[in-house]
Amino acid sequence: MTVSPAMEPTTSTSPSSQTGSPAVATGPDATAARERVALPRRFLMCRPEHFAVTYAINPWMDPVAGADRDLALAQWEALRAAYLSLGHRVELIEPIEGLPDMVFAANGALVVGGRVYGARFHHPERRAEGPAYAEWFRRNGFTEILEPAHVNEGEGDFLTLEEVILAGTGFRTEIAAHQEAQEHLGRPVVTLRLVDPRFYHLDTALFPLGGHNVAYYPGAFSPGSRAVLERLFPDAVLADEADAAVLGLNAVCDGRHVVINAEAAGLIGALRRRGYEPVPVDLSELRKAGGGPKCCTLEIRM
Ligand code: ARG
Repeated sequence: MTVSPAMEPTTSTSPSSQTGSPAVATGPDATAARERVALPRRFLMCRPEHFAVTYAINPWMDPVAGADRDLALAQWEALRAAYLSLGHRVELIEPIEGLPDMVFAANGALVVGGRVYGARFHHPERRAEGPAYAEWFRRNGFTEILEPAHVNEGEGDFLTLEEVILAGTGFRTEIAAHQEAQEHLGRPVVTLRLVDPRFYHLDTALFPLGGHNVAYYPGAFSPGSRAVLERLFPDAVLADEADAAVLGLNAVCDGRHVVINAEAAGLIGALRRRGYEPVPVDLSELRKAGGGPKCCTLEIRM
């Protein structure tokens, strides 16, 4: 794994070996194909000290089967170590007893340009997490924090690219929150409708590949939203159901490296062919709550 903290373009395999075809992609993604650049990120994470599966608010959760907290802790530590080894900064929020899903920091807020759009959870089981994350930002010097009037689950349903923010709805985040976020952050927000309960948050069905492209599983979206994605991202990396079913789309890309569930073999191969450097991790215990690498990671964009 190579990291370029100096933000120097790092060259990967030649374009011809990526596709096996002379027809190369067009658009901004094509320019980047030969030079996938890793940019150092600032992440907020929450150690799963109180992790458990005690209720079911998505189809992945089985309170009878439960989950092994110590194994989850070890897997989470390995994820954090992977970020640190890639040169990213990881800050921590104190876990709160009685909030077993608080490890899923992505849901805690949406932070763009140093402005914080707070979370307001759909399910009562997670409601206390919203104010807890907002408080962390207050204590850490953030002043532009909006307490939301509408239900939204932070980066679970908002994914930020260079020009637009993609926003999911259908299971958790309300469309009114998309408008609220656009107004607070001053970025265009594009609504996408999720239709498969297994992929209840946008970040379980799609992830940004740098600032101008995405990878996604088309089956998670309504026909209209699929058409929107095809129009916006003609060069997108498409994942199949097998990759989606191991939460392979719940990945974190720094522009070059993609931290991704190891089981997503097809998607990992496709990313490699496109010049990305997959960094496989095992978060199988956290998947029992419906979470993966991205769910555990809130990006702080200044
Ligand atoms: N059990 C949690 C829930 O259903 C998992 C959240 C996963 N987070 C995410 N960003 N997709 O809310």
